[in-house]
Amino acid sequence: MGMRVRTGMLKAGGLVLFVAGWAVGAGAQGAQAGAAAGAASGTATPHHAAAVRPTAAATRPVTAATPPMGWNSWNYFAGKVTDKDIRDTADLLVETGMRDAGYVYVNIDDTWEGGRDANGKIQSNEKFPDMKALADYVHSKGLKLGIYSSPGAKTCARFEGSLGHEEQDAATYAEWGIDYLKYDLCSYSGVMRAQFPNDPAAQNKMMREAYEKMHQAIGKTGRPMVYSLCQYGWDSVWEWGPQVGANLWRTTGDISANFDRMSLIGRSQAGLAKYAGPGHWNDPDMLEVGNGRLTLDENRTHMTLWAMLAAPLIAGNNLTEMKPEIAAILMNKEAIAIDQDALGKQGDRVLADGPLEIWAKPLKGGAGHKSAAVAIFNFGETASEMRKDSLHLKEMGFAGAVTARDVWAGKDLGRIGDDYKFTVPRHGVVLLVVR
Ligand code: GLA
Repeated sequence: MGMRVRTGMLKAGGLVLFVAGWAVGAGAQGAQAGAAAGAASGTATPHHAAAVRPTAAATRPVTAATPPMGWNSWNYFAGKVTDKDIRDTADLLVETGMRDAGYVYVNIDDTWEGGRDANGKIQSNEKFPDMKALADYVHSKGLKLGIYSSPGAKTCARFEGSLGHEEQDAATYAEWGIDYLKYDLCSYSGVMRAQFPNDPAAQNKMMREAYEKMHQAIGKTGRPMVYSLCQYGWDSVWEWGPQVGANLWRTTGDISANFDRMSLIGRSQAGLAKYAGPGHWNDPDMLEVGNGRLTLDENRTHMTLWAMLAAPLIAGNNLTEMKPEIAAILMNKEAIAIDQDALGKQGDRVLADGPLEIWAKPLKGGAGHKSAAVAIFNFGETASEMRKDSLHLKEMGFAGAVTARDVWAGKDLGRIGDDYKFTVPRHGVVLLVVR
């Protein structure tokens, strides 16, 4: 598979955590709905805060207190997405139970954009006849609507971008009722290069300023929006994303619906845990669960990796043809709870022994006891029996045996010691919650 793994080479970043003390809702959906409804960006003014009900000691509410959950049109529909696809998806998020499992954002990716009118106001194209009506529809289902643009003149699919119209576009999104913006660098990298050829530092400064400009523009609208940066993980974005108001930032190039690409992206997140936390998340791209020819084991590996990474869970499959076994993976409550855990700690790799890897993610756990999610991945081509690999419980901070629950098997295992062996299928995973 020729992957290279990034470990221990990340500098400490100047990370800014804007907020503390915001109450996270009871379940995954509570957290999402709370974050969305009460959200304000990092530059929230007091009147944003007044719109929500903070806990006693809270300063400001946090947008995306837990990793955002929802659905995005790109991975399946790409350039073909229409108003009808979005409405169908909204209906099905409710009917399948996905909304109640936490998937509340319905995000329109690239190719919705039309031109601009005489006043420069962005128009949607013929695939989206009335964006405000669509937002009303999505909201009527208890869901949130997301949209997409670029700091460049053109988006990645060469539709109209926001360059020179940032405030106007943010105001239009707010008028329509948009709750989430994915802002994709695309053609702006050409602007940066043209202005400062051979000067990466100056290019980086331009990029940060472009992201900050839209952050400010969103703040000015007074409407809370989740702010999602997409610039493919360039220039160690995790070190500065929070400073430009990002609630999440892509850490890699595009995912695709095959095991090698998905697992390469997921495994390359080792070492990034310290940059994630409530309000600001590493985003290894949207889910391909249910897409392409991923097998059930591969889909479970994908869902597990993303949950261990506290990654945004943005489904990308066609819900009109979702199979029950795919729904069961996307809606596994215990896997979602790991992703959405209130501690907000991203997991990291504890062991790599060839294709066998063990990752751990600290969990909030119950009163007075330590808890963690432990994933044993087999990225290899034949089943593994972990013959010479222990669970490495000590490295996770457990003194001796632990009480374990097998998430995908839905089974309590009782007490297990460090030398407990699992059989992990090819491209498969065992996911445990231990305490
Ligand atoms: C880039 C992004 C993708 C998607 C497309 C749309 O490739 O990384 O996630 O938004 O643009 O054109």
